[in-house]
Amino acid sequence: MKKLLFLVALILVGASQVRADEGMWLPSEILKKIKDIQSQGFKLSAEDIYSVNQSSLKDAVVHFGGGCTGELISGEGLLITNHHCGFGQIQSHSSVEHDYLKDGFWAMSKAEELPNPGLTVSFLEYMTDVTDEVLKGYKPNMTEEKRIELVAKNSKKIEEKVLKGKKNLKANVKPIYYGNQYFLFVYKVFTDVRLVGAPPSSIGKFGGDTDNWMWPRHTGDFSLFRVYAGEDNEPAPYSENNVPYRPKRHFKVNAKGIQEGDFTMVYGFPGTTREYLFSDAVKYTAYTSNPHKIALRTLRLNIQKEEMGKDQAVRIKYASKQASVANAWKKWQGEAKGIIRLKAVENKQAFEAKFDQWAQGKPEYEGLVARFKELYGSIEELSLVQDYQTEALNAVELISFAGRGQRGAEKFYKDYYMPIDKASFIALYNAYNKNIADKYKSPYFKEQLQNFGSVEAWADALFTAEPNLAMAAEIYEKTNAYFKENIAPTLAEVNKEITLLYRAYMRGQMEYNEATNGGKIFYPDANSTLRVTYGKVKGYSPSDAVYYTPVSSLTGIIEKDNPEIYDYNIPQRLRDLYAAKDFGKWEVAGSVPVAFIATNHTSGGNSGSPVLDAEGNLIGVNFDRVWEGTMSDVVYDPVVCRNIALDIRYALFIIDKLAGANHLLQEMEILK
Ligand code: ARG
Ligand code: ASP
Repeated sequence: MKKLLFLVALILVGASQVRADEGMWLPSEILKKIKDIQSQGFKLSAEDIYSVNQSSLKDAVVHFGGGCTGELISGEGLLITNHHCGFGQIQSHSSVEHDYLKDGFWAMSKAEELPNPGLTVSFLEYMTDVTDEVLKGYKPNMTEEKRIELVAKNSKKIEEKVLKGKKNLKANVKPIYYGNQYFLFVYKVFTDVRLVGAPPSSIGKFGGDTDNWMWPRHTGDFSLFRVYAGEDNEPAPYSENNVPYRPKRHFKVNAKGIQEGDFTMVYGFPGTTREYLFSDAVKYTAYTSNPHKIALRTLRLNIQKEEMGKDQAVRIKYASKQASVANAWKKWQGEAKGIIRLKAVENKQAFEAKFDQWAQGKPEYEGLVARFKELYGSIEELSLVQDYQTEALNAVELISFAGRGQRGAEKFYKDYYMPIDKASFIALYNAYNKNIADKYKSPYFKEQLQNFGSVEAWADALFTAEPNLAMAAEIYEKTNAYFKENIAPTLAEVNKEITLLYRAYMRGQMEYNEATNGGKIFYPDANSTLRVTYGKVKGYSPSDAVYYTPVSSLTGIIEKDNPEIYDYNIPQRLRDLYAAKDFGKWEVAGSVPVAFIATNHTSGGNSGSPVLDAEGNLIGVNFDRVWEGTMSDVVYDPVVCRNIALDIRYALFIIDKLAGANHLLQEMEILK
């Protein structure tokens, strides 16, 4: 293990001159990267980024809900994240009478801030390498099962030790580099988090799914929350007596503006990347899995779109669901295209051939490549069955609801519209019937289909005036039981060996790189833990003869504005402000900056992340990536991979001029 760490350290230092921008770095290890970060323009130290002894930038960053990032921007617990990250909360406070999705919401005093049961924000207290403790008792000849057991047992011990006698802490031991190393992460979790403000969706979601994953972009993708604490400034369950949390650190807001070439740092919680995959897995993603999943979601989206267009109430009910279905749907398309365009499969194959040569006579690595091929080949069909289980059979709302034992019934019915679900059932179950080979099809499915004669007739029995919950539960149980008993075990068995291979392959790739001076950089795949990425504000060329500059403005919003098109229909007030050139302090060259792109390597989960300048001040809020770069979870390309951030000045302009919520600006420390 020590040898590996040494190796990683070597590689980090050695490769940092090779290519900046790619990589998501662990804050506690940032000392190894700080020289390069500073050489890119960063003015602060490693201790300023992450420290356990004094307050550091990390103390202003939170894991927001399960899957986003947020940051503190005042000494009174004010938090900014994306509109799409707060979307579920904004929606759940909305009704046809109080449509905060449509009209926006602004608490004009703390008393008006709205509580959000179930929403948490987590601050990282510290993280530390616990590899030796996690692997205590490990013997090289142990089976993978035994190793998994040992790791789980030791991890649990470590977590319990940390939590003993402590309240409001959360501890997770997580593997990095496929279990070559383990880190402990300890968080403080706050549960009283209130909605403070959100622009209307026509600003916060401007461009909707049309512009999603694309540049140029004009989305005012932000919302504001406030963290509340007990009188002792510690986490406390919601209570009227709670007070605004006083964070150890909050970001100053830099409203002085950005230029192409400026240093940027993104500090947040990327969810999942798979940068060291074997070629066959990449091939499956781009050529099989993504195309099938895209087709299934296209069916659902078309149905939703049609019904939502007919009725405002249905539009509210399905706004959040549709956004999340559409989001992955669109990303998978860009991702597959990017993988193919970059020839990622071919490049990996070429690398694997060389690696295989080098591995000859090295017992640890010899034969890895051939075994990967065998294993991936053996599960290709089953993986598709798995994709259809989640994206077709279980994607019917009623069926998964009944299958989950009707948990969350109130929320379920509040946002349920049967005609959408029924039409989806018909489309998805027909697709399953058509595309899954007979030998892998659930026998129950086949039997029912035969009994009813058609998926349509089956649907009529399931979606009667009162939905047939018993039948829905049976469908869920029977098809999932079949999957669990007949498909999943083989998948799990093979995947266990694949994981084991990756652990060796990961080390092998590093060693090979070291031996051949391959110049590749290694950073742990994202796993929903805090990471630092850095880069520059920079335009790019998406295609021949086209170049995109890196900053968009309100002028572009006015250009796109069209009352006839839902995604581009801005509030009249914004039109008026523009016509009157009433931009207040936020004016730049007769307009207001809205969004910018930079070369930071980000992923899903980085939404809401602070984008910082060279001094660690907030210049933007990350919310997306560009279309041509969506394959960056699998393969990063410095030429076209860009993150998209809201320019903080647009948020300030909206809060100031559209919402008139000046009291919020006064809480912040704005550098102008
Ligand atoms: N693409 C961004 C991310 O992956 C934004 C998603 C929300 N927006 C939307 N139109 N669905 O989360
Ligand atoms: N929009 C993503 C998120 O919600 C960010 C990304 O995938 O780039 O985290």
